[in-house]
Amino acid sequence: MFQPVFQTVYQTRVALIGPSQPKVLEYDELISTFSRKGDPIMSTLTIEPIHDDFGARVTGIDLKAPLDAAMVTEIHAIIDKYSLVNFPGQNLDDDAHLAFTKSLGEPEASHVKLGQDGIIEYFGTIGNVLDDGTVLHNDHQRTRFQTGNNLWHTDSSFRETPSYVSIMSVVEVPDEGGQTEFISARAAYNRLPEDEQQRMDGLTVIHDYVFSRSKVGPDAVTPSHAASLPPVEQKLVRTNPGTGAKNLYVGSHARSIAGWSDEDSRTLIDGFLEKATRDDYVYSHDWKPGELVVWDNRCLLHRGAGYDADKYRRRMRQTRVCGAGPTLNE
Ligand SMILES: [Fe+2]
Repeated sequence: MFQPVFQTVYQTRVALIGPSQPKVLEYDELISTFSRKGDPIMSTLTIEPIHDDFGARVTGIDLKAPLDAAMVTEIHAIIDKYSLVNFPGQNLDDDAHLAFTKSLGEPEASHVKLGQDGIIEYFGTIGNVLDDGTVLHNDHQRTRFQTGNNLWHTDSSFRETPSYVSIMSVVEVPDEGGQTEFISARAAYNRLPEDEQQRMDGLTVIHDYVFSRSKVGPDAVTPSHAASLPPVEQKLVRTNPGTGAKNLYVGSHARSIAGWSDEDSRTLIDGFLEKATRDDYVYSHDWKPGELVVWDNRCLLHRGAGYDADKYRRRMRQTRVCGAGPTLNE
């Protein structure tokens, strides 16, 4: 059983913030977060939900220090429940960022470096300030390439084993713009009528990086990069292995439903995206220097809101953790 102090800590410390009415979460709801392994956990974390559908701000932890097994379990459970976890004020350098990434699983090599140059690199730089300090502007090919991230997507869904989470560490942000918007495909799935949910069960989707990047421009993907990422088949409905929660797994890389016409595929995928991304279901994250944000690529969709690279500097470092395996085996 959970220790009484755990109950007291959570009853007194957890509050809902943001646009909704303040409320204290039910103890049972919190217990379910930590019951993944059935072990008692003496938590020192404070968890503040940030949107009705998903997301939490978590304080009371220094991610620069090594995490023990119980804390790793707890963080996995928080990810399972809240999908997006914001750890403010962490200021991790690359070494600490990678160590935290490895504590959550196997780091995922950047498909761009791997596909273009055959190099394994765990970090991606998001924004226009490069590692050597060079600042790129709007007309640079790399800046244009990153506008592909302004379409609703989930990271790495075009890989046979897509990513579990992305982990973003924020260095510099623009004074204006540069937010990332998120929605929960789990909440959106739960809002579908039951007969629609049943119709989707058992379907698979072709995810194709070359298809999604063709919207950015004909030169967005080099031939070697394209050859390294053949289209893959993913389950349309995914199930969280810890909680049993279901969601649709689509986004900009989803080209078509296997065995369906392009027209019928677009009707289903685009129709779902339209319903899922209604304004009040969107959480727009305003990045803050020093914070670390982890999001669950299995069930969230996100997109960049854009910013003016001629006027502003933006630099964020991102790693990802590999998923458990191909979604077809889930
Ligand atoms: Fe992304």
